[in-house]
Amino acid sequence: MTWTRKHLLDIESLSAAEIMQVLETARTFKQVGERAIKKVPALRGKTVINLFIEPSTRTRISFELAAVRLTADVINFSTDSSSLKKGETLKDTARNLEALSADIIIIRHSAAGAPHFLARFLDAHVVNAGDGAHEHPTQALLDTFTILEKKGRIAGLNVTILGDILYSRVARSNIWALTKLGAKVTLCGPATLVPRVFEEMGCRVTHKVDEAIENADIINLLRIQHERQRKTMFPSIGEYTVLWGLTKQRLEKTKPDVLIMHPGPINRGVEIDSQIADGTRSVVLDQVTNGLAVRMAVLFLINGGVDAQGAAPSVADPRLGKN
Ligand code: CP
Repeated sequence: MTWTRKHLLDIESLSAAEIMQVLETARTFKQVGERAIKKVPALRGKTVINLFIEPSTRTRISFELAAVRLTADVINFSTDSSSLKKGETLKDTARNLEALSADIIIIRHSAAGAPHFLARFLDAHVVNAGDGAHEHPTQALLDTFTILEKKGRIAGLNVTILGDILYSRVARSNIWALTKLGAKVTLCGPATLVPRVFEEMGCRVTHKVDEAIENADIINLLRIQHERQRKTMFPSIGEYTVLWGLTKQRLEKTKPDVLIMHPGPINRGVEIDSQIADGTRSVVLDQVTNGLAVRMAVLFLINGGVDAQGAAPSVADPRLGKN
C-alpha cells in the first residue's frame, strides 16, 4: 500500500490499514535499530524541527533520535528562549521556521487543534506530538505496536484504560487505534473523569475498578492530568489511589499474563504501585523503546516512504542500511 498522507495529525482519520502500515514499517525500523550501525539515510538533507511548546521527555527525545537515525538535520525549538515570549504568534513562529527550510515540523501544544491549524498553511509536513486533551497519535501507535509485539494480535483483546480519561489525549488516540484494530476497550476511573459519553466511541464504561481489570489482557494506566483540570475532580490523591489505583492486591485478581502499560510520566504510588511499575508484567520501558521505531516509521512515511535517492525501498532493503 502506498502511503498518501502528508501529515500525521490524529488517529481518528486513519484507517486500520494505515495504522497497520505504520506498525509494519516500525517493525522493520526496530530491526534496523538492532544493527551495529543504526543510522539510515532516508531523511538525508531534510530538516526536522521539534516545536515543543509544552514539556516532554519521552516524545521530544524520541522524535529527535528518530530524525537523527534517519540522517535528518534536527533543531529543537526552546519556548523559553524563543520570540513566543515576546508575543510572536504560533502562526508567525511556524512560518519563520518554514522560511528557515523546515521540511517537517513536529508540534506539541496545549491547545487542541494546533497541529491541524499549522497544516492548513504550511508546506512542511506536520506531525502531532500531543495537542491539549485531543490526540497523541504516536503514543497510540507505539502502544499498539507494543501490544502486537507482546501478544501477537490486537483484535479480540480486552484493553482497560484506567485513570483520567477526560483530559487524556493518550486515551483518545488509543481508543481510536484499538477499536479500529478490533480490540474491546473498557474505560474506568472516577465518574467525573470517565463520562458515559465515551460509550459513543465504542467503549465500555465502568466506574468499578475490579470489574474493569478482572478480564483485561492489557491495563493501560493514565496519570491525573492536573495541568488540564480546571476544578477538583475527586476529593484527594489518597482517595484516588484507594479507589482506582493499581495496587498489589488488585493486581492479584487480574489475568496472570496481563500487560501493564503506562505512557509516562508515572506518578508512583498514585495511579500505580511503584513495584508494579517496575515488575515483570510492566512493559512501560518497552513502550519507550518502541516509540523510537514508530517515530522513525512516521517520519519515513510522511516524507513519502522514499530514501535519499528517491527510491521507495522496503526498509529491510540493503540500500537503506548503507549510510
Ligand atoms: N508519553 C509522553 O507523551 O511523555 P512525554 O510527555 O514525556 O513526552
